[in-house]
Amino acid sequence: MVKIAPSILAVDFASLKEEIVSVEEAGADMIHIDVMDGHFVPNITIGPMIAEASRRSTALPLDVHLMIEQPDNFIPAFVQAGADIVTVHAEACPHLHRTVHLIKEQGAQAGVAINPHTPVDVLRHVLEDIDLVLLMTVNPGFGGQSFIRSAVEKISTVKTLAGDLNRDVWIEVDGGIDDETAPLCTRAGANLLVAGSYVFKKDDRADALRKLRGE
Ligand code: DX5
Ligand code: ZN
Repeated sequence: MVKIAPSILAVDFASLKEEIVSVEEAGADMIHIDVMDGHFVPNITIGPMIAEASRRSTALPLDVHLMIEQPDNFIPAFVQAGADIVTVHAEACPHLHRTVHLIKEQGAQAGVAINPHTPVDVLRHVLEDIDLVLLMTVNPGFGGQSFIRSAVEKISTVKTLAGDLNRDVWIEVDGGIDDETAPLCTRAGANLLVAGSYVFKKDDRADALRKLRGE
């Protein structure tokens, strides 16, 4: 079944804990934390302190998405803050295999993200080492952007590639996910949906999660 990871990028940060509890009670499966450094992407967001505060707000797994340069410098801090999954961008990692193994040595599950224009081929030689592939369906940097449809075909390509290698990886999509774009992704093989604005801008979060699951 498809799992949902609401992104706290879209919360009212004056009420972070209440916002996280509201989606946990509504049936969310993970909490997605968007970390941006003002270099890899043109925005600055969350550091280990907010990840740690999120950890104390929920029992759900924390899915930490690092949109930062030189992620090796910060992976230990995010794992210590309570990250269960740490995802790095292939575009930011000249030694991707080394970075993936650093995440695992620190005790978290490892994910690799790629931007909408990046071909899936870059995943080929790390797929055996990772737990999750994150396909960006917007250019990373901001919440509330429009879904890029051309990224959908990469979902089935990753699914086939993982199947060929007998790898059972999460296929996560992130950016512009709502009740219209979610089915395009799940039909193509995505099994983990990140949604920020769609979930947090709605008062009835349980209904938002049900709609994303196609229920
Ligand atoms: C974009 C982030 C996304 C974003 C999703 O750079 O990685 O996780 O918060 O937000 P929505 O669902 O509003 O597109
Ligand atoms: Zn994200």
